[in-house]
Parts: sequence; C-alpha cells; structure tokens
Amino acid sequence: MVDLTGKHAVVTGGGSGAGAAIAVALADAGAVVTVMGRRMEPLMALADQHANIHCQAADVTDMDSLFAAFDAASADHGPAGIVIANAGAAESAPFHRMDMELWNRMLSVNLTGTYLTAQAGYEDMKGLGWGRIIAIASTAGLRGYPYVSGYSAAKHGVVGLVKSLALEAAKTGITVNAVCPGFMETPMLDESIRNIMEKTGRSEEEARKSLVKDNPQGRFIQVQEVADMVLWLCGEGAASVTGQALSLSGGEI
Ligand SMILES: NC(=O)c1ccc[n+]([C@@H]2O[C@H](COP(=O)([O-])OP(=O)(O)OC[C@H]3O[C@@H](n4cnc5c(N)ncnc54)[C@H](OP(=O)(O)O)[C@@H]3O)[C@@H](O)[C@H]2O)c1
Repeated sequence: MVDLTGKHAVVTGGGSGAGAAIAVALADAGAVVTVMGRRMEPLMALADQHANIHCQAADVTDMDSLFAAFDAASADHGPAGIVIANAGAAESAPFHRMDMELWNRMLSVNLTGTYLTAQAGYEDMKGLGWGRIIAIASTAGLRGYPYVSGYSAAKHGVVGLVKSLALEAAKTGITVNAVCPGFMETPMLDESIRNIMEKTGRSEEEARKSLVKDNPQGRFIQVQEVADMVLWLCGEGAASVTGQALSLSGGEI
C-alpha cells in the first residue's frame, strides 16, 4: 500500500470528476491535499468531507492566481511534493468552424494550465529532492478524434511537455508522467453527451453508444481507476517510471 504520510499534494480541478477522486485517494493514503479550481463551492464541499483536504481558489490559465494559490498552500502545509495537473476542459467543433477563441481556450486551460501548474510546483520539489508531477492528459493526447482538434492538439502538447520535463528532472528525484484516460464517467462526459444530443438530435443512449464504441472493453473509464493509477505513480515502486504517457483506455490505444 502506498503511504503518503507527511507529503503535501496539490490537485488542480480537484472539486469534481477525476480530480476529486484523486484528491480523496491521496488523502486516504495519508497526504495533506490542497484542491484548486475556480469555483470555491465544490472545493469546499470536498474539503468538508475529509480532514486531510483543504482548498484554494485558482485559475490555472492565470499565472498570478495560480502561483498565489501555491504560495498560500505551501505556507499552510509546506512545499508540495506531489502536483497533479488535472484541470481541463473539452469543447468540440468541426475543424472549419473552430475559431481562434475556441482554439485559444483549449490551449490555455489544457496545455498552458499544465505548464503553469508544473512550474508552480517544480522549484519547491527540487528543494525537497523528491517529487511527483502527474498530468491528466487523455487518449486524445495519443491519437486523434474528429471534432476536437484543438483539445487533442493541447493534450498531445501535454504529453510532449511531460516527456521533456522528465528528462530534465531525471537526476532530481522527481518523476513526471501523464495519465491518459479514454472517455471517462465525469461531468465532462455528461457535457459531451448533452452536446451530441443537442447537435445531432440523438437520444442519450445513442450518444453514449457513439462514445463508448471507442473502448474495446465497451465501457467508460471510472474515476477510481484514474485515482488508483495516480496513487501508484506516487509510490516508491514507481520511482523509475518517468516520461511516460500511460494509457488507461481498455485497450483503445
Ligand atoms: N471525462 C472524460 O471523458 C475525460 C477523458 C480523458 C481525459 N479527461 C481529462 O481529465 C481531466 C479532469 O476532467 P473531468 O473529466 O474530471 O472533468 P470535470 O469534472 O469537468 O473537471 C474539470 C475540473 O477542472 C477545473 N477547471 C476547469 N478550468 C479551470 C481553470 N481555468 N482553472 C482551474 N480549474 C479549472 C473545473 O473546476 P472549475 O470549473 O471550478 O474551475 C473542474 O473541477 C481533464 O484534464 C480532462 O481533459 C477527461
């Protein structure tokens, strides 16, 4: 069992979906966890449920807001040895209708947000001589899907960032990895299903089928599976796993 007693972990986008499951898994393993996100309400609701979970408001696309939240979190709980860059958003549009605003939104939250989150934690980790940076990317960082070229480009960028930073950090005791889930049962998936229903007139069941067909196991990934992989990557048994993009996709890729 992975024991994270004495460690401080930061999880961005920790108020919902995969981020909330990761935060609870790390806290259950003994870590003090700071969850970050733009909306305080879901963060506070999670923190109320677990003595080891605390929260800070932060927008991962805004360097000042994010670095201030990291400073406040480390003043309260010490430097973060574990940083989970999980915050993200997925918007879809046919390529010819993707405008600059949509493109910039996708790069900003998914790619720049991951870069800023990793950078906010990196210096403190170097001081500790141990660390874990884990980005929640996507199978969209490993292969393409129609209508999400901006999202997929950003997630491919996250994988490139992780592989490069892992090499730079290799002698510091810090590992850097990406977890790449396929379609996963979270509020983001609910939003994608609503979007498909709205744009195509399909029923909810048809919309769900159109997404689940990509997974050879014929099911959506569950947030607990992502949390379990993150927990394993935080353990000493995964000390030599770095620069990897780990697919969690029922064999999709
Ligand atoms: N669901 C899927 O099918 C799927 C598949 C593969 C990968 N992923 C990835 O998994 C990660 C988690 O997503 P999820 O599925 O759990 O969706 P989710 O429940 O919608 O979670 C996304 C979280 O990110 C936060 N967030 C969004 N923009 C932010 C910003 N600018 N600054 C700070 N926080 C921000 C949101 O909180 P606020 O709105 O309060 O800021 C929210 O808590 C994402 O990176 C996503 O791309 C999802």
